[in-house]
Amino acid sequence: MSTSVLFVCLGNICRSPLAEGALRAEAARTGLDLIVDSAGTGNWHAGEPPDLRAQAVARRNGVDISALRARQVRTADFRRFTHVIALDHDNLSILRKLAPHGATAELSLLLDHVEGREGQAVTDPWFGEEAGFETTWAEVTAAARTLARALQ
Ligand code: 4NP
Repeated sequence: MSTSVLFVCLGNICRSPLAEGALRAEAARTGLDLIVDSAGTGNWHAGEPPDLRAQAVARRNGVDISALRARQVRTADFRRFTHVIALDHDNLSILRKLAPHGATAELSLLLDHVEGREGQAVTDPWFGEEAGFETTWAEVTAAARTLARALQ
């Protein structure tokens, strides 16, 4: 089974699409063959493209996430993906409850993959200022670098 990573936040329009874009870019840069996707524990934004502020921060960093579309996480994801990575603790605990019997995916918190940031959450930038998206981008990029190395 090839390595596959699903990033999960609440709406799948801010944090997890940025994590998906960052890891796709890092995999391409390092020649790593990886399946990458993202989803939300909520379904309010299903079918929508990423928030324009998320698209903009990715674009400023050379990554186009405009074609991504939000979807809700489903129980099949726990077998389809080898790694399911939550952006914060609330979403991690929702995932733990949703995981069906026979789930094979390894569940983790995104910043557990970043040295010195273990146990921390990627704060939701949705309600805040534009600058929050820069912070999110820096965090997901740091995680993408270590993940790409670890999954090689
Ligand atoms: P995300 O941000 O979980 O990073 O995609 C959010 C986007 C929308 C909402 C919450 C969080 N919302 O409540 O609609």
